[in-house]
Amino acid sequence: MWRVKSLDAILETAQKKSLHRSLGLFHLTLLGIGGVIGTGIFVLTAEATQKAGPGMMMAFVIAGTVSAVAALCYAELASMVPVSGSAYTYSYAVLGELVAWLVGWALILEYAVAASAVSVGWSGYIVGLLAHLPDPIIIPPELAAGPYAGGVFNLLAVLIAFAVTGLLVIGTRESATVNAVLVAIKLVALGAFIWLALPVMNSENFHPFAPLGTTGIVAAAASIFFAYVGFDAVSTAAEETKNPQRNLPLALILSLSICTVIYLLVAAAAIGSYGAQPVFGPNGEALSPGSPALAQACTALATEPLVCSREALAHVLRSIGHPMVGNLLGLAAGIALPTVILMMMFGQTRIFFVMSRDGLLPEILSRVHARFRTPHVVTWITGVAVAFAAAFLPVGQLADISNSGTLFAFAVVSLAVLVLRRTQPDRKRPFRAPLIWLFAPLSIGGCTILFYFLPWQAQLLFPAWSAIGLGFYYAYGYRHSHVGRGETKVPDVEMPGPISG
Ligand code: ALA
Repeated sequence: MWRVKSLDAILETAQKKSLHRSLGLFHLTLLGIGGVIGTGIFVLTAEATQKAGPGMMMAFVIAGTVSAVAALCYAELASMVPVSGSAYTYSYAVLGELVAWLVGWALILEYAVAASAVSVGWSGYIVGLLAHLPDPIIIPPELAAGPYAGGVFNLLAVLIAFAVTGLLVIGTRESATVNAVLVAIKLVALGAFIWLALPVMNSENFHPFAPLGTTGIVAAAASIFFAYVGFDAVSTAAEETKNPQRNLPLALILSLSICTVIYLLVAAAAIGSYGAQPVFGPNGEALSPGSPALAQACTALATEPLVCSREALAHVLRSIGHPMVGNLLGLAAGIALPTVILMMMFGQTRIFFVMSRDGLLPEILSRVHARFRTPHVVTWITGVAVAFAAAFLPVGQLADISNSGTLFAFAVVSLAVLVLRRTQPDRKRPFRAPLIWLFAPLSIGGCTILFYFLPWQAQLLFPAWSAIGLGFYYAYGYRHSHVGRGETKVPDVEMPGPISG
């Protein structure tokens, strides 16, 4: 179970592939921004205020810092091993099959559950947008949200999850130009938000800054970490990148830096212009985001505080006197968020595909559709699971569950970089992360602390999920592993990334 897949064999396979290298630094960075900006900033800002109040600004800084040090580690590995499979592939080459399996299994949480979370976030914006049309269309409350918020079934979240699944099955890859346009739409929407909300900032809205103390701030950071997830999508395009050794690490770091600046400005503008204090229960207790108790407390309030909104940024704009721009922002979210779902589901099918190709998952999962040339079986399985979770669970809980898997994967990647520096110090490192003996431990420590501050449901779910994974590994993967059977060469299959040049 400690057997490793040789780095040279992985690289050799990658070199044999004939994918056209068409993506440069610009489009790669846009791919990163396209995968990162989504439900985190558009929706979870509200949840973060329930945990931290205005202190959520600090939460963005903490989560951004952990992501940045993890991104440096990703960048070094991505430059050395510019192939698909991301954290799973890196771990297989460095830490062995068992760890790689656990990472791959955790990435299911990162990608599939994140796709569910973004589907729920999208639904919140569309329900709000339809209700604010000149001729309002009201989605019945039973179908507008899951049971956590007084509904039964989140219909729109299910529809978007299936729509994206269908697109992936027929082989839709966004063109780099479409991705650029969608990123521009998101940036213009967030830019307009900052432009209109920052000038009407009222410093009193920042007091009290941390109504639930430091604990609240770190807990909010653990949740809002979701807003930064997705930069690793850049590494899925490794095989189609021009000069990947230079462009991959740069794009990872650039996209994350740009997103961090935007997030801080949006958070400051939302807090300053509208206020961001948590809602307390009858006995002065802070209510949990996504809980029926909070949903009930929200319905009793005359003006809707930030935390009660399922379309936080549109709500702020409408409330500070820009209803039209608020609706346009809702429309922008409606148009642009599905690309985040697409990238997350794409990442998921890719991980399943690579694991199955390595013999760790049944071969049927890497079966490719005769006409569309896509891994359709695994795409449908993913789509059904994503839609099911999106139908019934609240966005915040989904994001927390996703974070638990991501934090684990990031910590392992950071460990892998250190191990590789020790075991293969002379291997070529086109991007050498600076101060690695400081940043990698910081990343591991940061991920551990954030995991510790996740809500207990997400904390418990992760070990349970890993235990199921281990059972599966010993029952199947251990015996069928291609590396275990001595077949070190990966079959030559073309697997293009989520966007085309
Ligand atoms: N970072 C992505 C989002 O916030 C997953 O939607």
